[in-house]
Amino acid sequence: MGNQGRPDNDKKLGVLIGGSGLIGGGILNYFKTRSEDEFELLAPNSKRLSLRDPKDIRLYLKRYTPDFIINTAITAIDSNPLLTFETNYLGTLNLARAAVDLGIPYIHFSSAAVMPTGKNLGEEEQLRLTPELANYPKSKLLAELALQEMHRTLGLDYTNIRLAVVYGAHDHKIQGFQRMLFALADQTMPFLFTNQQAMHSYTNAKKVPFFVHHVLNHREEFGGQTFHFVDPNPVSLGQLILTIKSYLELKRPREIFLPYPLAKFGAGCMDALTRLLRRIGIESKMPPELMFLQNFYQTQSLSATKLSHSSFVDPNPRATVFTELPMLIQYYLTRWEDLNLIVPYDKVFFDPGKRAEIFVNDPEQMLTSLGDDVAHPFLDTCMWPRGSDVDSETEDK
Ligand SMILES: NC(=O)c1ccc[n+]([C@@H]2O[C@H](COP(=O)([O-])OP(=O)(O)OC[C@H]3O[C@@H](n4cnc5c(N)ncnc54)[C@H](OP(=O)(O)O)[C@@H]3O)[C@@H](O)[C@H]2O)c1
Repeated sequence: MGNQGRPDNDKKLGVLIGGSGLIGGGILNYFKTRSEDEFELLAPNSKRLSLRDPKDIRLYLKRYTPDFIINTAITAIDSNPLLTFETNYLGTLNLARAAVDLGIPYIHFSSAAVMPTGKNLGEEEQLRLTPELANYPKSKLLAELALQEMHRTLGLDYTNIRLAVVYGAHDHKIQGFQRMLFALADQTMPFLFTNQQAMHSYTNAKKVPFFVHHVLNHREEFGGQTFHFVDPNPVSLGQLILTIKSYLELKRPREIFLPYPLAKFGAGCMDALTRLLRRIGIESKMPPELMFLQNFYQTQSLSATKLSHSSFVDPNPRATVFTELPMLIQYYLTRWEDLNLIVPYDKVFFDPGKRAEIFVNDPEQMLTSLGDDVAHPFLDTCMWPRGSDVDSETEDK
């Protein structure tokens, strides 16, 4: 097998699929900035290597003969059955087949969408594969089942990392948690589309690359297995929405928990309206997350016990979706304002450090802290120090 694409050094060479996405982007950034002496990561975009085209996969992997493959790619969750099947399932299958041929580890990303509802669910829990499943969970479940089988029969060395609701910066497609934040910031959520009981697990996107790094270096412990990569404690959706509302000092949503039948009826009406608008030539689309409406009303918490009993050490155990909220709100509101996606906010309302308020009303106060601000060398301050806590700042990419 040719390997003319390999760099001429001792570093381990990896191929990452999905490097422009929320999870893949974080992994790419981490491997470029924190483990550059140990690894080199290639991240072809979907034009260079499309998971829908087996020839692309074959040519690329034969050319570079990597030491491992990471797959974070998915198609949009509301894609049609063929696109979903080809990208999420067949793409996975072909990458895993290539990993078997090359005798290298394959790191796969999956989702809580393949699991039933319930509390403290273990890694062994999976939905039953039925025709009724929506395209996204069906394709992710099929991929998980195929990987399990390939491990058993072909000795595939893989790790399946299951994520829950992911929170983190740089989600440029505005999906999942970020979509909810957007609906709040855009003031399009009149009531609480959940109940008082519903709890869910959350995944901190910033921590994922640390786990991938660890998993790659500990194949014996992590090979052939699924791990939930979630924060230890589930979060109440109602409490999270109300916390964001209070940060943003919003009037909406009103503190009324809308019963599920009413929410479902409302979603049905919206769906009919968007179809009608499309028919008369006005572009409109339902948020794809509404396919998970029922989940907003049901608890689904993933057990983090297996992860906590593993050799992986959480780089920042205190970080939760609540501690990250100020950073996420600041990052996304600024971005969405800049892109004219939302009406500009008065920054004073969501600047937790009140820096904008001081800047506007008392600029001289900025200079009083100048001595402290410049007391430490700038270039030697690392935002993500090796082996220590992940800080809560937004890193640049
Ligand atoms: N985000 C969440 O809340 C969440 C929750 C649970 C699980 N997960 C799992 O985490 C993983 C990463 O999700 P994400 O949120 O990072 O996804 P994302 O932001 O939507 O990114 C998807 C990536 O897949 C790439 N891609 C799409 N079609 C492709 C194709 N045909 N060939 C090659 N690449 C293709 C995209 O590249 P282009 O932009 O170039 O098309 C993009 O880089 C997925 O396995 C997902 O199931 C995510």
